[in-house]
Amino acid sequence: MINFSLSDEQKQMQQLARQFTRDVIVPQAAAFDRSEAFPKEIVAQVHDLGLLNAIIPESCSGLGLGMLDEVILGEEFAYGCMGIYTILMASDLGTTPIILAGTEEQKKRFLSPLLKGPNLAAFALSEPDNGSDAAAMKTRASFDGDDVILNGNKMWITNGGLADITVVFASFDPDLKHKGVLAVVVEKDAPGFSHQKIHGKMGQRASWTAELIFDNVRVPKANILGEVGEGFKIAMKTLDKTRVPVAAGSVGLARRALDESNKYASERLAFGKPINQIQSIQIKLAEMKMGIETARWQTFYAAWLVDNGMPHTEASAIAKCYASDMAFNAANEAIQVHGGYGYVNEYPVEKLLRDVKLNQIYEGTNEIQRLVIARSVIYSL
Ligand code: CAA
Repeated sequence: MINFSLSDEQKQMQQLARQFTRDVIVPQAAAFDRSEAFPKEIVAQVHDLGLLNAIIPESCSGLGLGMLDEVILGEEFAYGCMGIYTILMASDLGTTPIILAGTEEQKKRFLSPLLKGPNLAAFALSEPDNGSDAAAMKTRASFDGDDVILNGNKMWITNGGLADITVVFASFDPDLKHKGVLAVVVEKDAPGFSHQKIHGKMGQRASWTAELIFDNVRVPKANILGEVGEGFKIAMKTLDKTRVPVAAGSVGLARRALDESNKYASERLAFGKPINQIQSIQIKLAEMKMGIETARWQTFYAAWLVDNGMPHTEASAIAKCYASDMAFNAANEAIQVHGGYGYVNEYPVEKLLRDVKLNQIYEGTNEIQRLVIARSVIYSL
């Protein structure tokens, strides 16, 4: 049976997030974009609403939101600011490997304390020299008694260094390639663990991005998730899930691009009439609308597969890739509709284009998504 309606609870949650976005995120987004400051108060307010780290299971005193709930919220927050949404989304990215592969004891130990305040998690896979080829990681894990010792660097880590817990992927035997990778939880204050904030990003400047440095960082083996050697698969299974919220954020951003374009086109006059009466502008609005609706349904479908425990690797890659490419085009066209005004930061659309570029890159570039989709097509024969 196909059901296209949201539950009453989901509609309420959507309404709550929409109102918060309108009242809190939208008015402050441009200032955080300019200052590159971390929006600590906004994260605290999301925590107060009960919507931070909301995927943490009920067994750890969390809300235990499903993927469909998560994407409904994600679309709303990203409408206001993709960079601010990335902070919230990346915390879910950091908790997902623990939810997927942690023991009950590890879940309680690492996830329950996160809920006590506006606390964040992070996910550390990419490195200065390895992004798409994740299995080629250089960060090393060695063993000493009951401890794991980490050495190396991780790059482009959202919430890096601010997060209370970071799931780190490291190789204990490079000859084993992906089979030599482990996933381990590192706490913020671990000796030898430091970070360097990355400045000068093109967009999503409210989100905190850092390089992580591990200099003989000692963590107990009790922090390893799953079996040693399962780390790569834990990373892949995590990304299969978390690419869906990236798709949702892209839909939210594209919806903002359409709303801004629609408003501007109703006010701006050319050839004696509002430009929304000119066919070439109408076509742009229609293209944006088609893209948003199509991407949202693919996002909801991928979320539904996740929530129902069905295979979702291909569907989440399609959602992430399609939605972020669509949103890039929507933001680009929004600037075109605004003409010269779209090119200056007096209007919000130039920020949309700078922000959305990252959606085509992080959580697996769109080239990697196409590779995942192509493999699924080829091996289904
Ligand atoms: N689920 C479960 N297992 C999987 C899997 C999946 N989706 N994909 C691969 N595997 C398994 C394979 O079955 C294989 O296992 P066996 O050896 O037992 O057969 C193993 O993993 C290796 O698979 P591949 O040979 O396919 O691996 P590969 O080296 O060719 O890489 C890849 C595959 C898809 C390119 C992968 O490296 C990848 O996804 N790269 C992109 C990494 C990425 O998304 N990084 C984003 C970082 S996070 C970020 O950006 C976040 C941020 O801060 C906001």
